[in-house]
Amino acid sequence: MNILVTGGAGFIGSHTLIELYKAGHTAVVVDNLDNSNPEALRRVAEIIGIPEVPFHKVDIRDREGLERVFAAQKFDACIHFAGLKSVGESVEKPWEYYENNIGGTLVLVDVMRRHGCKNIIFSSSATIYGDPAEIPITENCPKGQCTNPYGWTKSMLEQVLMDIQKADPEWNVVLLRYFNPVGAHPSGRIGENPNGIPNNLMPYITQVAVGKRQELGVFGNDYPTPDGTGVRDYIHVVDLAGAHVCALKAIERKCGLGVYNVGTGHGYSVLDMVKAFVRVNGVDVPYSIKPRRAGDIATCYCNPAKAKAELGWEAKYGIDEMVRDSWNWQRQNPEGF
Ligand code: NAD
Ligand code: WQD
Repeated sequence: MNILVTGGAGFIGSHTLIELYKAGHTAVVVDNLDNSNPEALRRVAEIIGIPEVPFHKVDIRDREGLERVFAAQKFDACIHFAGLKSVGESVEKPWEYYENNIGGTLVLVDVMRRHGCKNIIFSSSATIYGDPAEIPITENCPKGQCTNPYGWTKSMLEQVLMDIQKADPEWNVVLLRYFNPVGAHPSGRIGENPNGIPNNLMPYITQVAVGKRQELGVFGNDYPTPDGTGVRDYIHVVDLAGAHVCALKAIERKCGLGVYNVGTGHGYSVLDMVKAFVRVNGVDVPYSIKPRRAGDIATCYCNPAKAKAELGWEAKYGIDEMVRDSWNWQRQNPEGF
């Protein structure tokens, strides 16, 4: 299939491009490069072994820009990664998050349908469950109260896409609810490249390990978890990328609406991650216990059985590969791209 990949220069998008080409698909990237670097696409092309990844520097809110991209070729489906994703920033700048994530998706979906492309895979998030009503989280778990505007954009966009699919069953909509993506391509050529101080655990750990930050602050050790620190379902980004290839097969089978958790089903604490990182990589990660971070929950991990049963997808990589590949990327690229 020929796939439009919005946000394809970003962390998850760049890894997904590789899996798409490996599976025999072709892809065209649309990205405004607000949170990414074109060097990522150059390296993706190098890994795939093609001269370049077709790329348009277009903002998905720019209707004419998108129209030009759709006028130039036919797309069988869109994998829609483009969006702003910083939880803390979304609290400071809610308008920007609603306008970019929701406004952008509405323009994208309208241009898609005008050009007869009614297949979309959407990057949703475990954050839509809020403080989850049950653990492990199944897709039947009710959506919860999000603690920040970013989370609400994902929750609202799920509703928008479900309503569009319901009104027009020609649409195939796959909502993938990612848990906590970490790791990097095993080559170490591409990986997560946050701007400024990382918000997420794994890039913070790698920046401490490489000497860019002094120590990791562990946000709370008094949660009702085995060691008191927060438990999450970390998933290797290459596994996550593979889920999109499986979702495309579902679209080819005319799946209608599909909603899937994409995680490993294993919960690891902050200290589990730190200890695994130190053990596997043989580097030190100094840390100290800090107060809880506002909005954090104690435990979040999924039951990924539905994705296995219906998409034939399951995670292959474990915690050792996650910490190995995160470090391999950071070690080789201490300043990012
Ligand atoms: P990322 O920031 O690395 O990638 C997103 C890309 O979208 C960036 O390259 C950015 O430049 C681009 N972009 C943003 N707004 C755009 C716009 N208006 N027009 C065109 N391009 C635009 O983030 P990521 O970690 O790769 O996440 C990809 C998707 O997955 C996002 O939608 C994110 O919300 C979602 N997600 C991420 C996580 C995570 O922890 N990384 C978890 C769950 C869901
Ligand atoms: C993981 C654990 C922290 C940093 C966020 C978004 C979610 C999704 C994934 C997009 C928690 C602890 C962290 C640090 C720490 N993104 N931690 N010190 O909060 O589970 O999820 O990213 O959709 O929406 O909310 O991920 O990596 O920030 O935190 O102790 O410096 O690590 O308290 O227990 P989180 P995270």
